[in-house]
Amino acid sequence: MLDVSDLHVSYGNVEAVRGVSMSTTPGKITLVLGANGAGKTTTLKAVAGLEKPVSGKVTLDGTDLTGLAPHKIVRHGVSLVPEGRRIFGPLTVAENLRMGAYTADKSLVAETLERVHEMFPILQQRADSAAGLLSGGEQQMLAFGRALMAQPKIMLLDEPSMGLAPAIVDSILAKVRQMADSGIGILMVEQNAEAGLDVADDVVAVARGEVIFAGAASEARDNSAVLRAFLGEAALAGSDD
Ligand SMILES: Nc1ncnc2c1ncn2[C@@H]1O[C@H](COP(=O)(O)OP(=O)(O)OP(=O)(O)O)[C@@H](O)[C@H]1O
Ligand SMILES: [Mg+2]
Repeated sequence: MLDVSDLHVSYGNVEAVRGVSMSTTPGKITLVLGANGAGKTTTLKAVAGLEKPVSGKVTLDGTDLTGLAPHKIVRHGVSLVPEGRRIFGPLTVAENLRMGAYTADKSLVAETLERVHEMFPILQQRADSAAGLLSGGEQQMLAFGRALMAQPKIMLLDEPSMGLAPAIVDSILAKVRQMADSGIGILMVEQNAEAGLDVADDVVAVARGEVIFAGAASEARDNSAVLRAFLGEAALAGSDD
């Protein structure tokens, strides 16, 4: 289980994250909702070791990961799929996937690649294509695949559906569900609250660096503050409370 407890992260004297707690566990998707600038990306970066928390704790199965270097956190089994995917366009799909395996147990790389190809057949079909030639949805699958090559227990996903055509969003989020069902714990920031709630187990909503709601996805759907903030007034009008 990944446990983030009372995390504080600052940029100079701007407190971007002010006492955030959240968790996820193998098989589960925890959805992180919040407006622009709420501190979602900063939280994921701090968990991944890319920002140093001022205070608070990040543990994986009881092991303290707080403030470790990013590559060490990957080696402990926590992989970040960053906002904007950051794939290497001029490199081939196969080369991008291999880069994801740099911390992995070398004896398991071939087997892991096979599992990635099973989950994302397009990455096998396009193995020798330049990654930059893939569609947006395919590039997101490549970003997932690259993270999977590190054999993670936990994946941190920052806005996986960003910039994708609405028709593709559901299929990408279905892939996230499939990764969770394969036994990975997922912490996912997703601006598309409606589609995110369809696949999530739990929800944490943040505003101005603080948690304003934490509960099951089904409870979030019934919570008027969450509805108003993230699903819009139309959803509220259609709810019972
Ligand atoms: N590198 C940085 N230096 C200074 N301030 C930053 C930096 N990155 C983020 N911030 C500030 O920290 C706060 C939280 O930003 P963060 O990117 O975590 O928000 P977010 O919830 O991911 O927003 P978005 O929905 O726009 O992605 C914002 O006020 C932002 O301006
Ligand atoms: Mg962000």
